[in-house]
Amino acid sequence: METKFLGNTHVKIPEIGFGTWNYAGGIEPLQAAIDHGAFLIDTAENYGTEAVVGEAIRGRREQVFLATKAAPRNFRRKDLIAAAERSLRLLGTDYIDLYQLHWPNYAVPIAETMSAMEELADAGKIRFIGVSNFYVPDLRRAQAALRKHRIVSNQVRYSLVERTIEGGLWKYCRENAITIIAFSPLDTNFLQFQAADPQGELARIAAREQKTRAQVALNWLIAKDGVVTIPKASSIEHVKEDCGASGWRLPDQEYALLAKAIHYRRRGALEIIGRRLARNVLQHLGRAV
Ligand SMILES: NC(=O)c1ccc[n+]([C@@H]2O[C@H](COP(=O)([O-])OP(=O)(O)OC[C@H]3O[C@@H](n4cnc5c(N)ncnc54)[C@H](OP(=O)(O)O)[C@@H]3O)[C@@H](O)[C@H]2O)c1
Repeated sequence: METKFLGNTHVKIPEIGFGTWNYAGGIEPLQAAIDHGAFLIDTAENYGTEAVVGEAIRGRREQVFLATKAAPRNFRRKDLIAAAERSLRLLGTDYIDLYQLHWPNYAVPIAETMSAMEELADAGKIRFIGVSNFYVPDLRRAQAALRKHRIVSNQVRYSLVERTIEGGLWKYCRENAITIIAFSPLDTNFLQFQAADPQGELARIAAREQKTRAQVALNWLIAKDGVVTIPKASSIEHVKEDCGASGWRLPDQEYALLAKAIHYRRRGALEIIGRRLARNVLQHLGRAV
């Protein structure tokens, strides 16, 4: 398993880790992931999977880079500290490696939230501060609100079929040494993913390289600077296969072929602004999740 530096730190994380949203695979696949070098495990208070992650890493905490997320409803100082304590308890550990803000919450002053994140870092409860689903203006405001720490990562949707972040966010993250943790790398439903490839390019390249289609799809992401990814896999078989996406690279022209042949979504600036505004309004109406 190849590793990459996390943000501007000297800490290395595997280029393939595993996510646990809608995860019901039990502890064995997660343990197999760690055994195969995929020692980054991602969860969130909203997923309801912190306890199973805690069980899977029991006795081997120091081998794992543990990432979890606070829900936007908990971005007030008091709530964030309580949420972190709850996550620590469920995970059965006394520190979280990467604590992430799951989505921006425009109804809570970012200065209050980031100051609470720094408090948690200074207390040794979290090692690094990360965010998720933050666009460039959100990242700028969040970083500006931090006094001594830096945002090391942004977890965002990114795959061969969802390439919105290429519109500017990817460049901003690269310029600011923010690792991109690509979520839903198989588009949540790998059959649906393959429907976006009417010419069968993925299958052709996979056969030529003696890899599987999922491995090629994951490898397309991790071949990019500053990008790691966290598929969800419920079986040991899928875990092993996904780990096999690391440790090799395709010829450049094959990445280009994939990028061209596979149909993808990329939201424009107006749509992104509209979605932020809608979220902003909902949150001010007290509907933050
Ligand atoms: N920050 C956010 O807002 C956010 C949002 C969504 C997701 N995420 C994170 O990203 C993680 C992954 O995203 P996701 O859960 O949406 O889905 P995903 O990883 O894009 O796709 C998961 C699906 O792919 C299947 N799969 C995995 N490996 C495979 C393989 N080698 N061959 C064929 N199929 C394979 C899984 O099947 P099996 O389960 O049967 O193995 C599952 O059905 C989440 O678990 C979560 O940690 C974060």
